[in-house]
Amino acid sequence: MMALSSDIHSSADARRLARRHLPWMVYDYIDGAAGEGEGERRNRDAFRELRLQPRILNNVEHRRLEVPLFGETATLPFGISPMGMCNLSRPGADLMLARVAKQYEVPTGASTAASTSLESIIEAAAGNAWFQLYFSGQETASEALMSRAEAAGYQTLVLTVDVPEVGRRPRELRRGFKMPFRMGVSQFVDFACHPPWSLATLFKGAPELANFGGAFGEFDRTSSRAGADWSLLERIRERWKGRLVVKGVLSVPDAKALQRAGVDAIQVSSHGGRQLESAPPAIHALAAIRNAVGPDYPLFYDSGIRSGEDVIKAYALGANFVFLGRPLLFAIAAGGERGLSQLVDVFSQEVSIALAQLGLSSLDGIGQSSLADASFGADSSIGSGQPSVRHE
Ligand SMILES: Cc1cc2nc3c(=O)[nH]c(=O)nc-3n(C[C@H](O)[C@H](O)[C@H](O)COP(=O)(O)O)c2cc1C
Repeated sequence: MMALSSDIHSSADARRLARRHLPWMVYDYIDGAAGEGEGERRNRDAFRELRLQPRILNNVEHRRLEVPLFGETATLPFGISPMGMCNLSRPGADLMLARVAKQYEVPTGASTAASTSLESIIEAAAGNAWFQLYFSGQETASEALMSRAEAAGYQTLVLTVDVPEVGRRPRELRRGFKMPFRMGVSQFVDFACHPPWSLATLFKGAPELANFGGAFGEFDRTSSRAGADWSLLERIRERWKGRLVVKGVLSVPDAKALQRAGVDAIQVSSHGGRQLESAPPAIHALAAIRNAVGPDYPLFYDSGIRSGEDVIKAYALGANFVFLGRPLLFAIAAGGERGLSQLVDVFSQEVSIALAQLGLSSLDGIGQSSLADASFGADSSIGSGQPSVRHE
């Protein structure tokens, strides 16, 4: 595929270019969401409606982007959310993401459904990888994955809990998206219309679910995980000696129960709108959950972040760290490793410039006063006025 990374000046650029280069089926797999996409749109709209408060005449010449994360220092305030089948965006995508993680000492999520083995990802990330577990419906299979992750050196397990059933994503269904690919006439035409992607993929081999096969059996991304319950969480908490993060939480009572259950951190997320279409905007849930769990409990956030200003808004509403999803895959599709690094620079510059406009030198200074008005806090969907924020 052609390297067009010089054209990436925003995450919208990455998406636009990716759309041009990817087969429709792959673009719709990445960009798609549950139902008609209302939940995905709502996540982005909710960010857009938030306002930041500019401040003046503070000396902000020296700005730092690093943040503390589980006792260490991440040199950027955002990491890489776990995503299955990243190599569909371009061969080698998982390892490109892992190298970004290594470079900036931020976590990359190695998905259960990754297209590169969990061992290769943590190696390329020089340890900066967290293993994301989908309960497979069979505890023995999950146990086997946890043992492998442990042996590979993973210290953090991310248990994704918002997929009891995979959301219906009509854009995928219309394209006949299946793993492994099923080649029908429409897929053939689709691939033929996108020769650079098709040739690169043909040359490297179609991406596979790399954590499976052989002794590790098969993985069906659409299979039911509806049997997971709180007792499963208890067993996983008992079993996994490292840090346990639970991803996909939008409810205050659930967050409080997870905190009581000894989970080390919660990742507030609506799976980027790919699960329950009518879910509330995840950023609203973050504010409510921060109020409920108190100022010191680690909260991570993903869903709908499209700019550095969005990153800052999530910190203002109580996140201790945030994760990016789709934009990273679009950047890789648009410009390969160079495109990815360019988008990471775009986000970093956007965060840094926004900090300057807010009169701040680091993310540590972000707090409730970084938000411009009370309109968000007064929104009845949050229920308790302005969200309380850690950093003040
Ligand atoms: C193509 C794709 C695959 C994904 N696969 C997984 C996965 O395997 N495990 C998981 O926990 N989340 C998965 N997610 C969800 C992301 O981790 C994250 O929650 C979401 O992308 C964030 O929203 P955003 O894309 O709007 O930034 C996936 C998302 C996308 C776009």
